[in-house]
Amino acid sequence: MAHSASVSIWAFALGLCLGVSECYFSIPLKIYPGKYNFSSAADLTPARRVALTSDGNGLSLASDPSGTVNFLDMVNNLQGDSGRGYYIEMSIGTPGQKLNILVDTGSSNFAVAAAPHPFITHFFNTALSDSYLSTGRTVAVRYTQGNWEGELGVDGVSIPNGPNGTIIINIAAILSSEGFFLPGINWQGILGLAYPMLARPDSSVEPFFNSVVQQLGIPDIFSLQMCGAGLSASSTSDPAGGSLIMGGAEPSLYRGTVWYTPILEEWYYQVEVLKLEVGDQNLDLDCREYNMDKAIVDSGTTLLRLPVNVFNAVVEAITRSSLIQDFSSGFWDGTKLACWMKGETPWRFFPKLSIYLRATNTSQSFRITILPQMYIQPITDVDGTLDCFRFGVSSSANGLVIGATVMEGFYVVFDRSQRRLGFALSNCAASGSVALSEIAGPFSAADVAADCSGRTLREPLLWVISYTLMAVCGLVLVVLLLLLVLPCRRRGRSGEITDESSLVRHRIK
Ligand SMILES: *[C@@H]1O[C@H](CO)[C@@H](O)[C@H](O)[C@H]1NC(C)=O
Ligand SMILES: *[C@@H]1O[C@H](CO)[C@@H](O)[C@H](O)[C@H]1NC(C)=O
Ligand SMILES: *[C@@H]1O[C@H](CO)[C@@H](O)[C@H](O)[C@H]1NC(C)=O
Repeated sequence: MAHSASVSIWAFALGLCLGVSECYFSIPLKIYPGKYNFSSAADLTPARRVALTSDGNGLSLASDPSGTVNFLDMVNNLQGDSGRGYYIEMSIGTPGQKLNILVDTGSSNFAVAAAPHPFITHFFNTALSDSYLSTGRTVAVRYTQGNWEGELGVDGVSIPNGPNGTIIINIAAILSSEGFFLPGINWQGILGLAYPMLARPDSSVEPFFNSVVQQLGIPDIFSLQMCGAGLSASSTSDPAGGSLIMGGAEPSLYRGTVWYTPILEEWYYQVEVLKLEVGDQNLDLDCREYNMDKAIVDSGTTLLRLPVNVFNAVVEAITRSSLIQDFSSGFWDGTKLACWMKGETPWRFFPKLSIYLRATNTSQSFRITILPQMYIQPITDVDGTLDCFRFGVSSSANGLVIGATVMEGFYVVFDRSQRRLGFALSNCAASGSVALSEIAGPFSAADVAADCSGRTLREPLLWVISYTLMAVCGLVLVVLLLLLVLPCRRRGRSGEITDESSLVRHRIK
């Protein structure tokens, strides 16, 4: 949608209290329409090899030469960034056709383009694979953003920088889609790494990783390092890349302890959030609000998404502690970028964000923290004289999502065999020598409810929501009727950026 590129320049005063002296200075801030786009290009980095063992803790570590998986072979097997998604190269069919596949822990189908589409360079041609078998079933999947339809088939897949061997897996061959493939992406398919319950058309379609574990005999664990922290999401910067380690965790990718939180239910990777802090300040909401109607860890979501109430409380707390009084609401809702003169990095004006997760000892918690560098995200390609940033947090109507914005700070271990998710400091989440994330614990969980997951709340809540919606609909009808009857006297405020014109991508969900 075209809209005038009117730029408003905001000058505002920042009050800083340093001991008894109080000084004021102003920083020119420009608010831009949140319009920008990406393209991509990258190289795979080669890897070394080492073998696998178990450390008795259920975790597989790279030290036993008699093992079957070489984790170092998989280091740097991902390309991409949080805006375009992280993807891995796979070879599909016989002879193998190379495709880039988006890594998504928030869905459970393995689906690849099987027909041309304007935004992809190539696709899986099922007719050219001797081993492809169609099942004749159709399948359709909706994501928060985008959807696709296709047919279910079976074929062999191998992963050049993954565990050795060819796996026979279910493939959804995408024949048509809408809003799924976007300009600038460099992937042609999606690898849903969540549980069978989310598989379409039903849970009998065994997900990719289940097949890998079954057929190659590797441990039922994978771990994910995404290296885009603090990097600009733009076409001019190199894509960051990362690692998907299948079969365990690779110690060289993280520092310190791995903190574990239980997987509450095996569909999405659902976890329990106990507390949120902005700076040192506890938001102090009922902990069920944080998990309304679920809290999940999803690599296919770009931003940190928060339930509306929580989002509003976070924005309020950031506004209060950021010393920035007069921030445009367009920045918070993602329709505008905030720009400063080049070199004026705004991060010192913003607080850290901390999420407390239930520990495996359920009377304790641990805390993952991201610095403002991770959620006030640089966007280039807007204007040569300015540095522009977007807010890496958005509001959500379907639960809290720990997306790439947060995951990029951590090495995340999806330990399905012990039904837990591990978080450790990622060794690539640093800007220069400054670590962009922190992890700490244990903390007592005595101050929060024994169950914050909101599982008991869900049913009554749905009723409240449906009655509220009905009431709202009724009200809207009444208003519409009144408008029809009464002459319109005032035009609404114009010039405001509406949702429709927002081009800020919350790829993928
Ligand atoms: C994205 O960038 C390309 C070239 O860099 C440009 O042609 C295209 O119009 C841009 N799209 C949007 C939506 O800005
Ligand atoms: C895969 O097989 C090759 C040849 O047998 C072997 O050299 C290599 O170590 C194996 N790689 C992995 C990741 O296990
Ligand atoms: C769990 O945490 C509680 C509270 O900190 C502590 O008293 C207890 O010993 C812990 N239990 C285990 C098994 O470590």
